[in-house]
Amino acid sequence: MKSFLTALTCVLVFAHAEAQNYDESKVPAYTLPQILKTEDGKAVKNRKAWEETRRPEILRLFENNVYGQLPQTYDSISYAVTEASKTAMDGRATLKEVVIKVFKNKKPVTINLTLFVPKQAKNPVAAFVLINNRGKDNTDPARKTKSEFWPAEMVIDSGYAIAAFHVSDLAPDDKDNFMTGVLQLYPEQLTTDNGMRAIGAWAWGASRVMDYFETDKDIDSKKVTVVGHSRGGKASLWAAAQDERFAMCVTNCSGNTGAALARRQFGERISRINTTFPHWFSNNYKKFMDQENQLPVDQHMLIALIAPRPIYATNASKDLWADPTGTFLALKAAEQTYGLYNLKSNLPTKPPGINEPIYKSIIAYHNREGEHDMTLFDWGNFVKFANYHFKK
Ligand code: GCU
Repeated sequence: MKSFLTALTCVLVFAHAEAQNYDESKVPAYTLPQILKTEDGKAVKNRKAWEETRRPEILRLFENNVYGQLPQTYDSISYAVTEASKTAMDGRATLKEVVIKVFKNKKPVTINLTLFVPKQAKNPVAAFVLINNRGKDNTDPARKTKSEFWPAEMVIDSGYAIAAFHVSDLAPDDKDNFMTGVLQLYPEQLTTDNGMRAIGAWAWGASRVMDYFETDKDIDSKKVTVVGHSRGGKASLWAAAQDERFAMCVTNCSGNTGAALARRQFGERISRINTTFPHWFSNNYKKFMDQENQLPVDQHMLIALIAPRPIYATNASKDLWADPTGTFLALKAAEQTYGLYNLKSNLPTKPPGINEPIYKSIIAYHNREGEHDMTLFDWGNFVKFANYHFKK
């Protein structure tokens, strides 16, 4: 019986994989929803109309149709900081282990933050914070394990603080257990169709880390970049869209319901993401399975919500699942919003070549050679991007 089921699953997965489109000529004709037109049909011509009318409208559309609400009230928050080492990384950094505890209705959620602060830099320093969706060994505070996924030494040597927290503290990445973290504080979210789910919970966690940064004198909380890879990159976008305290956003290989346009129906699609990961997005999002054109938003509008702040999206050449072209096109379509702030992106009109990062730009992009991952090449460019925008 078991082997029959395994075989059946393989056939189904295979059939599904075959249904994915990796052929550019099969991308259907589509029209993107307009960023700069209000729901009652008025053209948005300036910052005021954007900030007061259209931006809040788009935020609500994403909450109600895609990611769910992001509750922001809680009863208390506390930070227990241990200076675990003043001589981390051979004396180049201080290591802080921060336990962030948030309470609502007597229920707690605990976020464990690992933070390295460079010794050389003048404090307060700008920081990167990673929403870690991979193994905790990738962010080993003891530095016995070193990983390109979070190359803390390189970032410290570049004069930035680097932090990470793990998504499982907020919502285990598992359809049967995702509600055992922060959703225990907001159980009502589980009963509404526009309620928060796992990706929202991870973004919520990034905002609590930002609450902490605002209290840490070593950190320049006005210069914090939220970073995420893949599912974590969907969360970093949603965090930066919601929480304007994040100065910059990095979204690495985030693909479907991240930085790539849904309407292209290239690589992963909404039907597939909702079937494989039913716990990531709101119930309402399931209405758009095989109905991309019915969505009142597309992902260019999520990028627009980050304006006027710098955003860096990346892809990997062999990761067609995350649609590199669709990501580039989403960034291009968001440029008009930056235009309201007289900010011009330096993206070319067509996607740049492989390994040709465009980081000297308010909207930055690269397509790294290789597989779905986050590497030293990616991080090296995030640092250059930060150097450029923070005018170091
Ligand atoms: C799967 C999923 C993607 C996701 C990726 C990841 O491939 O389909 O949407 O981005 O996992 O998080 O690595």
